[in-house]
Amino acid sequence: MDAIILLGAPGSGKGTAASRLIARLGVQHVSSGDLLRNAVKAGTPAGREAEGFMKRGELVPDELIGRIIADLLTSGKSGAKYLLDGFPRTVAQAEMLDRVVAQSGGRILGTVLLDVSEAILVERLAGRRVCPGCAAGYHVRTMPSKVSGVCDHCGAGLVQRSDDTPDTVRNRLSVFSRQTAPLIEWYGARKALVRVDGVGSADEVAERIIQALS
Ligand code: AP5
Repeated sequence: MDAIILLGAPGSGKGTAASRLIARLGVQHVSSGDLLRNAVKAGTPAGREAEGFMKRGELVPDELIGRIIADLLTSGKSGAKYLLDGFPRTVAQAEMLDRVVAQSGGRILGTVLLDVSEAILVERLAGRRVCPGCAAGYHVRTMPSKVSGVCDHCGAGLVQRSDDTPDTVRNRLSVFSRQTAPLIEWYGARKALVRVDGVGSADEVAERIIQALS
């Protein structure tokens, strides 16, 4: 199994870019946030453990998310190619991922960091709306739905994510600076990181990622 890693602060556009890269890169999209939100919604033991951390905007324990991701990656087809959005976020998670990929005989094909200033991140998260039915993402100003508040794809009413409140956003950004910055340095020291400008239209950003990986 091979993997491409998409790193970036909350709101940097990882999910938006991933949705445009799936077909272009022939990858399966794995969003650690979506996996955790689904586990919370389903009330699984992992979801019950993760819920409080997520509400506060903190990282869930490495062991918990590591187990979920490892189970998913190792249960896939041997030649599968994954686009990892939101995982890893700590050095311990990256080391675990290296082990799982190596054991499968695969490779990390690239690690991309989406660069976006904090002011833009805050504006993006404040205006984000998501579809509770099909998980499509929108922004009230930059990527509005055709009919205000209604999903273009499935017609469900759009909602704000519960961790997009101002206090939780502040905490998520601070957690990123404290806990994921060391991971960025770690990949940088291994010369395994490509920085991509995450500002521009979503199509432009996706194109830059493809160029960076080629
Ligand atoms: P997760 O769901 O991964 O949240 P996140 O990393 O905070 O990232 P977001 O989903 O908020 O943003 P994004 O970068 O995908 O941006 P998006 O494309 O939506 O994680 C949630 C929680 O789960 C964490 O806080 C933690 O508790 C836990 N967790 C997850 N993974 C974990 C891990 N590995 N370890 C431990 N805990 C973990 O875009 C944002 C907005 O901007 C949207 O409105 C979009 O329309 C707009 N937008 C996007 N791109 C553009 C563009 N180019 N131009 C204009 N607007 C744009």
